[in-house]
Amino acid sequence: MKAVRIRTSPSLALVKYWGKLTRGRNLPATPSIAVTLGGLDTATVIHTRSHDQPDEVRLAGQVQEPARFEPFFTELRRRLHTDLHFLAYSDNSFPSSAGLASSSSGFAALGLGCTCLVSNHGCDTPVMPDQVLTALASELARIGSASAARAVYGGFTHLPAGAKRAERLYGPEHWPALRILVAVTSTAPKADSSRSAMERTRLSSPYYGPWIHDAKVVCAEALIALDRQDLQRLGELARLSYLRMHASAMAAEPPVLYWLPASLGVIQACATLRTKGVRAWETMDAGPQVKVLCLDQELGRVRQELADAVPGLSFIEAKPGIDPDLGEWHPQREPDA
Ligand code: DP6
Repeated sequence: MKAVRIRTSPSLALVKYWGKLTRGRNLPATPSIAVTLGGLDTATVIHTRSHDQPDEVRLAGQVQEPARFEPFFTELRRRLHTDLHFLAYSDNSFPSSAGLASSSSGFAALGLGCTCLVSNHGCDTPVMPDQVLTALASELARIGSASAARAVYGGFTHLPAGAKRAERLYGPEHWPALRILVAVTSTAPKADSSRSAMERTRLSSPYYGPWIHDAKVVCAEALIALDRQDLQRLGELARLSYLRMHASAMAAEPPVLYWLPASLGVIQACATLRTKGVRAWETMDAGPQVKVLCLDQELGRVRQELADAVPGLSFIEAKPGIDPDLGEWHPQREPDA
């Protein structure tokens, strides 16, 4: 097997990872809980290359900065005892690098796809990743981007503080009525990457310590609310988590400020919806987009009221996603040399 195709979806944190431990490689300092966003897709094809060719990743046809991927590929080869190199083509069905967690679906695809290619190298009958390989893929994906550790699974996931890999909490069938409405306020790539922004928060925000301490408390309660499918409580906790994350980041020097006027408009429109008895709870990541948690039967109303309240929004509707889909790729054409 020389090439693999894989479909992954981004991992949206309900309880946020923001900050790294000072030991280890890209270990999260806070625990996070996430849902995989079915409806947003990253399609990736990965080819093996010989050891004398460079690793290369292309996103929407654009060659990506090799330094961003080097730790991932180096660790992959070390752990899997291989000297193979890789060429990956990836395309997102949603705006990239705009705070929609495209690095999570991207590195999850690389983790799963490269692990599968190495373990099937030279085999005629391919074997797809089992639980052990998926756990290893989660660990490797984390080296690339910690949120990606969660995106190797569909449904609902947990990445404990300091953990090397994520764990699956539930499949998507746990809460089929849950919906996530992504309100896109801007498709411009973000100026401040989550990686540099969270590091700046750690180094300079006086609120970083309290944020780390509080995140554990919020996460413990959110695990219970998720288990009970209690949208009211989970929504309240998701809101606390993102607001406290952003509060600590805004207090960094220089400040980390991702919000646009339209982001605030959506936040206020969600508050108004809740006063009318509609269960709509927003969350935000390292970008200006706002993701709104609600239920299937109220999705239409939430979308309409947000569109009326904030001109110029576009929307993507998501629900708890299924596991990544992976299979052998038979190239119609050879990859560029
Ligand atoms: C706000 O996983 O992109 O989306 O590990 O440095 O690549 P790196 O960071 P990344 O950070 C995600 C931050 C977040 C919250 C979350 O997804 O938990």
